[in-house]
Amino acid sequence: MTEITGRTAIWGILADPIHHVKTPQALNSLMQERGVDGVLIPFHVGADDLTALVSGLKAMRNLKGFVVTVPHKTAIVDLCDDVSKQARAIGAVNTVRREADGRLVGEMLDGAGFVAGLRENGIEPRGRRIYLAGAGGAANAIAFALAEAGVSLLTIANRTLSKSEDLRQRLAENHPSVPVEIGTGDPSGHEIVVNATSLGLKEGDPLPLDVTRLTPDQTVAEIIMQPEVTALMAAARERGCRTHPGRPMLACQLELMAEFMEMRP
Ligand SMILES: NC(=O)c1ccc[n+]([C@@H]2O[C@H](COP(=O)([O-])OP(=O)(O)OC[C@H]3O[C@@H](n4cnc5c(N)ncnc54)[C@H](OP(=O)(O)O)[C@@H]3O)[C@@H](O)[C@H]2O)c1
Repeated sequence: MTEITGRTAIWGILADPIHHVKTPQALNSLMQERGVDGVLIPFHVGADDLTALVSGLKAMRNLKGFVVTVPHKTAIVDLCDDVSKQARAIGAVNTVRREADGRLVGEMLDGAGFVAGLRENGIEPRGRRIYLAGAGGAANAIAFALAEAGVSLLTIANRTLSKSEDLRQRLAENHPSVPVEIGTGDPSGHEIVVNATSLGLKEGDPLPLDVTRLTPDQTVAEIIMQPEVTALMAAARERGCRTHPGRPMLACQLELMAEFMEMRP
């Protein structure tokens, strides 16, 4: 970290709990590499105090922005002065930039990070048929980013059907040219298969989809980062599929966050 002086710019991350977050280490290293006179620090805040903290942060002139994570990604939307159309439709924000006049501008970068991670590894979603397992927070962000990327079909398969229906409705309103279907556990007929559920994080979790339907022409992408090779990825490899792990989504997102929050020298 550079020496902290009166000129040092401040960024933060809001979470509860907060001990496990890795964003401070990652973005402080990035700032050091780029010669940014800034520091990103953890702000531990509970849901009941979020409004009070955010109102204080608006008044903090050397604060440039903050990352928002569990459990505040939804509540922060209404506390921002401006939110991108996409983040509004998703109903969540994970990165906020504080403008010089104190206005807070929110964006959701989870999905953009996922798509950038695919592209960085030579996997282009444009024009592809995509199977998406999940309709939770991460799946919502990914679905909107895939629609934005111009996929030819998006099939959503989630345990709770009402959440798939709700996501399809919002996608139809915001991306009417992208065909969206509600799927089952069968991913066949899709070129890219994405696990955006939390299944795979814990040992013994059931698989998020029917792996016996996977074929070698498919790419199977994960968002679970730990373990590095999930049970789904192992099963997909056994069936001859190309696999894409969860980590690039985060790595690419850190870049996007730095850019959005203007972490520059
Ligand atoms: N790689 C990255 O950068 C990155 C970024 C963000 C999140 N993530 C990972 O993404 C995962 C999901 O996060 P989230 O914020 O989307 O969580 P979330 O909003 O709680 O959504 C969880 C999703 O998993 C499904 N699910 C959970 N347990 C299930 C079960 N037993 N059977 C079938 N479906 C089940 C849920 O289905 P229902 O709707 O039916 O409950 C829902 O679709 C987390 O594990 C997180 O670690 C990774």
